[in-house]
Amino acid sequence: MSLDELSRLIRRPATRRFVTDRDVPRETVAALVDAARWTGSARNRQPWRFVEVRDRALIEALSRLGAYAQFVSGAPVVLAVAAADNGFADTAFDTGRVTQSLVLAAAALGLGACPATLFPEANVDEARRLLRLDEGWLPDHLVALGYPSAEPAPAAPRVIPGGRLPLETLLTTI
Ligand SMILES: Cc1cc2nc3c(=O)[nH]c(=O)nc-3n(C[C@H](O)[C@H](O)[C@H](O)COP(=O)(O)O)c2cc1C
Repeated sequence: MSLDELSRLIRRPATRRFVTDRDVPRETVAALVDAARWTGSARNRQPWRFVEVRDRALIEALSRLGAYAQFVSGAPVVLAVAAADNGFADTAFDTGRVTQSLVLAAAALGLGACPATLFPEANVDEARRLLRLDEGWLPDHLVALGYPSAEPAPAAPRVIPGGRLPLETLLTTI
């Protein structure tokens, strides 16, 4: 894959609206997680677990556990990403990495995705219960997955600016 091709996948905007007539098969979700599980993590702890959610009532309930998570209710499938509650400073970095791997793998298959944050802590705890995860796992993010709809997506929360900071702001050389 060329850098241009990879760049195009990275640049794909978040997808918050999905077509309703095309499912994402279970094998596809398994293939995405199978690809992403090879992501490196600090000390190879792999401090992540995934729960594939297809039950509509459960997806609805999860969509109410984050201030900006309502859009996930329109996704054919939602993947909950649970982080190990292990106190290591690297855990959030690790789960962010594996989630990005998932999102890129999804993009490579033509799927759209958008993460959603669950908060506050009580909502993460409620999600853990709904997802039947053991204590010690914190499902603080969901990834909505599906084929992107051509209809305009519900806008990102208005307070969020679009675009990206310029390279000169981000990169310095010494
Ligand atoms: C860790 C993380 C959490 C996010 N949580 C939400 C969320 O709760 N609700 C939402 O609508 N978008 C969420 N997003 C999507 C971002 O708002 C989006 O990636 C960002 O605004 C850039 O938009 P673009 O990718 O469409 O250019 C999240 C993204 C990340 C990486």
